[in-house]
Amino acid sequence: MSAPIKACVIGNPIDHSLSPMLHGFWLKQYGINGTYTAQRVLTEELDAFFLQLRKRDYAGCNITLPHKEAAMKYMDEVSDVATKAGAINTVIVQQNGTLYGTNTDVYGFRQNMVATIGEDYFANKQALVLGAGGAARGVCLALQTLGCRVSIANRTKDKAETIAESIGKISVIDWEEKEEALSQTGVLINTTSLGLVGSAPLTLSLAALSPDAVVSDIVYKPLHTPLLQQAALRGNKIVTGIGMLLYQAVPGFEAWFGVKPQVTQELEQYMVRVVT
Ligand code: ATR
Repeated sequence: MSAPIKACVIGNPIDHSLSPMLHGFWLKQYGINGTYTAQRVLTEELDAFFLQLRKRDYAGCNITLPHKEAAMKYMDEVSDVATKAGAINTVIVQQNGTLYGTNTDVYGFRQNMVATIGEDYFANKQALVLGAGGAARGVCLALQTLGCRVSIANRTKDKAETIAESIGKISVIDWEEKEEALSQTGVLINTTSLGLVGSAPLTLSLAALSPDAVVSDIVYKPLHTPLLQQAALRGNKIVTGIGMLLYQAVPGFEAWFGVKPQVTQELEQYMVRVVT
């Protein structure tokens, strides 16, 4: 039997990562001779890690916090979307041994929206992104590819302005004015950590939001955050955060293991049981 195909996820801390379980599910489902492990790597170890990745016959890896930006400089080539996002989360060791870095969070967010709501809904809709941390940039890019007009509001306004300037065609709204902006909003996305188990909930009345608007949260623990509960109660369509996690893993798995994996209800239910 030939040697297993190897991939891994690196970060610090890494114990909480759901990626080994997710890729493990697919490896088993498709009967692939492969391994996907979690490895704790410190920032000062990145250089050595990427050298070893080539030498130790890895097909590639995922990158999680805090290395998504720092890992870029070790790549031989970076995709356009990763350059725009300013971060990579997926590395592919190419045939000639060079490292290709890309960002599949943008794809993951987009596919989750499309799979849940349908692509047709989004064209020319006004989207409001709450938060300007690690995830917001990719969410803004994905919304633009769906044809949305994008606004962003963040407690620390400077960070929203930085994202708006670097991506372009994004308007910045004061954090205190986010509720007023809801009357014009067709897609609302929380990318802040508010609502995450152990954090304060996002305090936001949805009273001004159209009942036709879509509400999404990238927090998936709990799956139904207080924001999503409020939205569902008033009849808005909701998109939970777990799907983004599942879809962002598809391109990496396909590149490393040679099969495009399906995001099924069975997988979603399995991961929800693991998360909650
Ligand atoms: P990072 O900013 O280090 O990338 P993150 O977890 O990706 O961290 O992002 C956290 C996001 O949640 C930020 O938008 C943060 O707002 P600030 O930029 O003002 O810090 C937002 N956030 C966290 N706690 C918040 C709170 N209590 N009220 C409003 N926004 C909050």
